[in-house]
Amino acid sequence: MGRVMGRVDGKVAIVSGGASGIGRETCKTLAREGARVVVADINTQGALKVADDIGDAALAVTLDVTKEPQWENCVSECIEHFGRLDIVVNGAGVGFSGNFEETSLEQWQGMIDINLTGVMLGCKHGIKGIKASDNGGSIINMSSLGGLVGAPDIAGYCATKGGVTLLTKSVALHCAQYKLNIRCNSVHPTYVDSEMLDPIAEMFESRQAMVSAMSEEVPLGKLAQPQDIANVILFLASDESAMMTGSPVIVDGGQTSGMPGKHSG
Ligand SMILES: NC(=O)c1ccc[n+]([C@@H]2O[C@H](COP(=O)([O-])OP(=O)(O)OC[C@H]3O[C@@H](n4cnc5c(N)ncnc54)[C@H](O)[C@@H]3O)[C@@H](O)[C@H]2O)c1
Repeated sequence: MGRVMGRVDGKVAIVSGGASGIGRETCKTLAREGARVVVADINTQGALKVADDIGDAALAVTLDVTKEPQWENCVSECIEHFGRLDIVVNGAGVGFSGNFEETSLEQWQGMIDINLTGVMLGCKHGIKGIKASDNGGSIINMSSLGGLVGAPDIAGYCATKGGVTLLTKSVALHCAQYKLNIRCNSVHPTYVDSEMLDPIAEMFESRQAMVSAMSEEVPLGKLAQPQDIANVILFLASDESAMMTGSPVIVDGGQTSGMPGKHSG
């Protein structure tokens, strides 16, 4: 019996933020489904570890998403090593929480640089690399529920993620207008049980206490796992989503579907 075709067989992906959480799971998932993957992260050791776990189908590249020359380098290393580029996952992101009136300019700027400028540069250089490969492709931008609705104690984060929502739509329309055959969609998860929640967990008695409190906000009664998000990214990366572009894809266990059922006894 021959090998079963993977859902992204033959494709090549760059995943920023690939060293941790959702990005790490995305690298592994894409590779399992036949893609070759550049694990791109500012955390070089982490990226090397993920690439090592995957094997020959992966290459670790140090990338600070806020630096344009590093994006140029990442795309050219990808094409040099794997011969092409089809998929870019803009996964790198950071979040600071706290009272809005005490937001420091440094924290605000840091989030804008990584979460918004980093995604813009990933789209810009991703398009260039995908165009050079001549077969179209897919860009997936990590936004958040916070890119669709606000929250009082993560205002800066929401501002950057809301920016990603509309940047995605604009990039999708740009690619369509110029008939580039490149799709661009955003993903909007509820809480994901990744390393990103570690600083929040420190504010609770235990990580389990945080998970329980957050789970109560989600109608399905649980947090998302990185694999839940990687599965959606896989779908958007594959040709199965060929008619989707500019779409904000919500992965929230029902959290933004409506009001709590408190209108009857
Ligand atoms: N975890 C959640 O609850 C959640 C919810 C909604 C959206 N998201 C979004 O999903 C994405 C991934 O989050 P995660 O949970 O996997 O977080 P994570 O903290 O586990 O991973 C983020 C990765 O980004 C990397 N990174 C940070 N700054 C970088 C930079 N300047 N250049 C390159 N890499 C950089 C980090 O080294 C890390 O490997 C983020 O954009 C995040 O905002 C997360």
